[in-house]
Amino acid sequence: MVKEAKNKKLKVLVIHGPNLQLLGSREPEIYGSVSIDSINKLLKEKAKTLGVQLTIVQSNHEGEIVDAIGAAPEKKVSGILINPAAYTHTSVAIRDALKAVDTPAVEVHLSNIYQREEFRQSSLTAPSCIGQVGGFGVQSYLLGLDALFHSM
Ligand code: DQA
Repeated sequence: MVKEAKNKKLKVLVIHGPNLQLLGSREPEIYGSVSIDSINKLLKEKAKTLGVQLTIVQSNHEGEIVDAIGAAPEKKVSGILINPAAYTHTSVAIRDALKAVDTPAVEVHLSNIYQREEFRQSSLTAPSCIGQVGGFGVQSYLLGLDALFHSM
C-alpha cells in the first residue's frame, strides 16, 4: 500500500541520537555489527516499498534533535522515527519537543532497554510517542517504520 498526500509522498524524519554514528564498532555484543549506513540503506529500501520519502539525521547534540523535531510541522513531516539513544533516559527537552508537535513518533532501540542496567530501564521520551519497538537490532527500525507508516 502506498499512501500519498496531495500526490506527494509522505515524509518521514528518521533521527538517530548520540553515539549511533559509531554503530558497527560500538559494543557489537550489545548493538550488533551493522553500521549506521547499513541501517539507513535498509530503511531507504523499506521506505521505497511503502512509498514514503525519508530524511535521515544523526546528532550527538540534544538541542539539534529538539530543533529537528520542532521543525517537522513546517517541513510537512508526517511521522518521526527516533532512536534517542542515551537521551531516552535523560531528556525532558526531547520528550517535550515530541509532545509539542502534532507529528506522530515511534521510538526505537536496537537493544531491549528493559533487560539492561537500571538507569536504562525507563524512557522519558516514549510517553511522547505513539509506541516503542526495542530489542530486535536493526529490525526494530524496520518494524518501527512499518508501525509509524500505519499510524500516519
Ligand atoms: C539505545 C539504548 C540506549 O540505552 C543507549 O544509550 C544507546 C542505544 C539502543 O538503540 O539500544 O545509545 O538507544
